[in-house]
Amino acid sequence: MTRFSEIGIVSPVSRRVDRSKGNEDNMDMKELIRTVDLTKIYPSGEQPITALRDVNLVFTPGEFAGLVGPSGSGKTTLLNIVGSLDTPTSGSVEVLGGKIEKLSHKKAAELRNRHIGFIFQTFNLLPVYTVYENVEFPLLLLGMKAAARRKAVRDALAWVGLADREKSRPAQLSGGQSQRVAIARAVVKKPDLVLDDEPTANLDAENSHHILETMKAINRDLGTTFLFSTHDDKVIRHLRRKITLIDGRVAADETKTA
Ligand SMILES: Nc1ncnc2c1ncn2[C@@H]1O[C@H](COP(=O)(O)OP(=O)(O)OP(=O)(O)O)[C@@H](O)[C@H]1O
Ligand SMILES: [Mg+2]
Repeated sequence: MTRFSEIGIVSPVSRRVDRSKGNEDNMDMKELIRTVDLTKIYPSGEQPITALRDVNLVFTPGEFAGLVGPSGSGKTTLLNIVGSLDTPTSGSVEVLGGKIEKLSHKKAAELRNRHIGFIFQTFNLLPVYTVYENVEFPLLLLGMKAAARRKAVRDALAWVGLADREKSRPAQLSGGQSQRVAIARAVVKKPDLVLDDEPTANLDAENSHHILETMKAINRDLGTTFLFSTHDDKVIRHLRRKITLIDGRVAADETKTA
């Protein structure tokens, strides 16, 4: 397993220095996410659907945590709200010290662009762009200079073992490789938080294992927080914290002791 420190990637220590510079965002280093009585009701036809009910959770930087629970229990809804892609019906969510529901569209986009990496179940790679261009995209949104972009993209592709595929297009990749491009795109800007909806849904055991090991190494070496939703025992085994949602409520919140 590659350790990022061995290939010259920023160490967790220098990363902490990096983050403390960003205090214009009012970041709270002790808490990355806090939900308070978070409730989401979808007004669906005559019978509104309550997807989340009074969810109270706190995540600290560096966690490797997963949401588990039956289909329809609210996992994706929670990830979407934490990622500022959706808003609560009542209650609140703070991410990096800012309340999601109070952010303007512009501020929400800024939070996502700078601090959060998403990995969607369907990967959402841009089909007409190469692997390199797909991974570079979040850096263009940040206005990063060309030379810095090139280094960051090459580093991210090396982390996920795809350095030799930068010119390929998504249609030329296997499912596992596409997923690894999606991981590279999510981590290339070294976000504080990566949200990953069903990371191994379409993968065989070997690819699942490789992807989990990659994410654990990123978590360990860069201090990136990971929050997954998953049904997969292979993922659940690796979680350091497992939160069970049932019918939109937190039914259990278990932390593995080392
Ligand atoms: N946009 C929407 N409009 C109406 N209802 C929705 C919407 N999105 C989700 N729901 C409902 O909210 C509930 C929670 O859905 P959610 O997608 O969060 O579940 P999940 O735990 O991610 O399930 P799965 O394991 O199947 O992915 C479900 O009953 C679902 O039908
Ligand atoms: Mg889901």
